[in-house]
Amino acid sequence: MSYTITLLPSGHTFQAKSSQTIVEAAIDAGVHLPYGCRNGACGACKGKVVAGKVHLEDYQSSVISEDEIKNGMTLFCRAIALENLTIEIKELAITNNIRPKIFPVRVESLEALTHDVMLMKLKLPSTDKLQFVAGQYLEFLLKDGKRRAFSIASPSYEPSLLEIHLRLIPGGEFTEYVFKEMKEKSILRVEGPFGNFFLRDDSKKPIIFVAGGTGFAPIKGMIEEAIQKNMTRPIRLYRGARVLEDLYMDGLCKKWANEFKHIEYIPVLSESLKEEAWRGRTGLVHEAVLEDFVNLNDYQLYCCGAPQMVEVAHKAFIAQGLSEDEFYSDAFTFAAPIKK
Ligand SMILES: Cc1cc2nc3c(=O)[nH]c(=O)nc-3n(C[C@H](O)[C@H](O)[C@H](O)COP(=O)(O)OP(=O)(O)OC[C@H]3O[C@@H](n4cnc5c(N)ncnc54)[C@H](O)[C@@H]3O)c2cc1C
Ligand code: FES
Repeated sequence: MSYTITLLPSGHTFQAKSSQTIVEAAIDAGVHLPYGCRNGACGACKGKVVAGKVHLEDYQSSVISEDEIKNGMTLFCRAIALENLTIEIKELAITNNIRPKIFPVRVESLEALTHDVMLMKLKLPSTDKLQFVAGQYLEFLLKDGKRRAFSIASPSYEPSLLEIHLRLIPGGEFTEYVFKEMKEKSILRVEGPFGNFFLRDDSKKPIIFVAGGTGFAPIKGMIEEAIQKNMTRPIRLYRGARVLEDLYMDGLCKKWANEFKHIEYIPVLSESLKEEAWRGRTGLVHEAVLEDFVNLNDYQLYCCGAPQMVEVAHKAFIAQGLSEDEFYSDAFTFAAPIKK
């Protein structure tokens, strides 16, 4: 059974099966709705059901309130159509036609970058190349049907060897397995690419990147791709970490800043007291941005990391003049637990 979904304000329509969420159906149909985690945890896909009924699967209660649901709001990544729908959500102006696919990958190498960050390189079958845009993410398909999202840290001009930066989550099913048991040459199944976190290259505005922890992963891919395309828009990369040891690939960021006049690198440590020799910036990474820019009106800003950091930073940047349309983010929400 399938239903017709009509989008407002664009008037575009697409079909959704009763076995898929609205976001899944939109991806299948090549319609670009906003979304992040696809898991009811980040709120990026929130929008209004103007006419028709939906069934809402499990979601994180912090993301949408009961009052909002009563007023017709929903999370389209968890909403299943029960009849034809008219929905209100801003379609994204994206022209590429990339569709996600399921494919096997071989773990080419595993390298610990810090005590809790692993660099994983994934090789595609020799006949296969992944079409993606730097900044998008993959989902690892676990045996029990669960999925785990990880950003692609490499640029799209290397489509058959993908790089992932995994932070160990204590008690986390997948990352503990990767750190404690996974062997090189293991075969995994992944689906992707997903996500709308990528560099908008139709703008001339200077770019501010704000990365917390492994939130650096998608941003690394974007910067490498921008360099390869000879893009010379000014870039300021702010990276937040607790202590110096957590700033993995610090040397690479310094190299970019040394080689390219248009790239600046600002590492910010939140626990700098533990670093006697640290002469750099201290505090929270988004606060360093707020200190440096009186008004963010003329900038495009890309922010990635822990959900709390992205949420607080978003509010603060908008209050400091950033246009809502110029804020792009991926929040690294947990896949589990989901609670109503
Ligand atoms: C779009 C996107 C991109 C991402 N990219 C990256 C990336 O590039 N790098 C990166 O490091 N991370 C990334 N993440 C975050 C990553 O997907 C999560 O950290 C993921 O959940 C880790 O998987 P896990 O199986 O190790 O942990 P999970 O099993 O998901 O556990 C997460 C936490 O929940 C707790 N938990 C699990 N089950 C229960 C339960 N039943 N009751 C109570 N607590 C429970 C665990 O103890 C743990 O603290 C991304 C997330 C998203 C949404
Ligand atoms: S994409 Fe729907 S809540 Fe994250």
